[in-house]
Amino acid sequence: MRIVVTGGAGFIGSCFVREVLGGEHPELAGAQVTVLDAFTYAGRIENLAPVADDPRLTVERGDVRDPRRVAEVLDGGADLLVHFAAETHVDRSITGAADFVTTNVVGTQVLLQAALDAGAGRFVHVSTDEVYGSIASGSWPETHPLEPNSPYSAAKAGSDLLARSYHRTHGLDVVVTRCSNNYGPYQFPEKVVPLFTTRLLDGGTVPLYGDGLNVRDWLHVSDHCRGITLAATTGRAGEVYNIGGGTELTNLDLTRALLAAVGVGEDRIERVADRKGHDRRYSVDWSKIRDELGYAPRVPFEEGLAATVAWYRDHRSWWA
Ligand SMILES: NC(=O)c1ccc[n+]([C@@H]2O[C@H](COP(=O)([O-])OP(=O)(O)OC[C@H]3O[C@@H](n4cnc5c(N)ncnc54)[C@H](O)[C@@H]3O)[C@@H](O)[C@H]2O)c1
Repeated sequence: MRIVVTGGAGFIGSCFVREVLGGEHPELAGAQVTVLDAFTYAGRIENLAPVADDPRLTVERGDVRDPRRVAEVLDGGADLLVHFAAETHVDRSITGAADFVTTNVVGTQVLLQAALDAGAGRFVHVSTDEVYGSIASGSWPETHPLEPNSPYSAAKAGSDLLARSYHRTHGLDVVVTRCSNNYGPYQFPEKVVPLFTTRLLDGGTVPLYGDGLNVRDWLHVSDHCRGITLAATTGRAGEVYNIGGGTELTNLDLTRALLAAVGVGEDRIERVADRKGHDRRYSVDWSKIRDELGYAPRVPFEEGLAATVAWYRDHRSWWA
């Protein structure tokens, strides 16, 4: 079996690759893995260091927006394609949205077309819960309309719908996953957990947006990767699966948990003006993947967060 993983040098993609090659996903045992990554600021070869010597791993530098390069990589065949590659940071999409549209929307279309042309097998499109917008109470089922609010989530919604269209129009074997907020090791220190952790470890303050009461659902990156493998191996073609963690926290609660994990006080919080268009609350209903595919998050939040903080403490050279 050959798996092509786009964005496999990023935070979640590299976790998926390390775990598959490390034997943590028995359904994909023995697979050859090809990473296709443009190595933007967010993609780093060091993220694949633990599996760099594995003969089943091939790393291809390339941009998903480049049809010729994508066709070359898919020429070797792909039984499974897992599409992580994207521009992912909401704040960057507010100051400059162009790369978000070209990579997330155009790049996904290039990849879908190349997969179709190459006769590739299943195409897992890794989407996000942010495509749903913001919800005051309750949780979104997969049937909820997409109402994205940031250029990032709008571009992800575009790619999510293109994936659906290639299934409906061409019969491509597409499955879409929409996951909530991930935390874990190897996350670029622009996102809240590694940004706050590294600033605290450096003795600095952490910039908390607005009133700090925006709510996110958190899950460990390995739970997300397991959900992706379940969707890849036993999900139904053309379906969308929400993946959640069941730990809903305000940003203030998350910040307090990080302060406690590092062992410092609330005087390290610096209140800053709110993010433009800041979604108030995200909450996915992940009962479909639980009931159909047997998914449940395994990493308890407190343990996962403590291990993550410890990883950043022990891997200063990775982020410094
Ligand atoms: N981080 C989260 O909490 C979260 C939650 C739900 C869904 N997602 C989705 O999961 C996927 C991975 O997220 P992440 O947090 O690992 O992102 P990341 O920013 O850490 O990594 C993105 C990867 O994509 C690569 N990339 C970017 N543009 C590319 C291009 N044009 N061609 C080829 N490669 C390119 C980068 O080099 C990098 O390796 C994204 O699609 C994101 O929308 C993320």
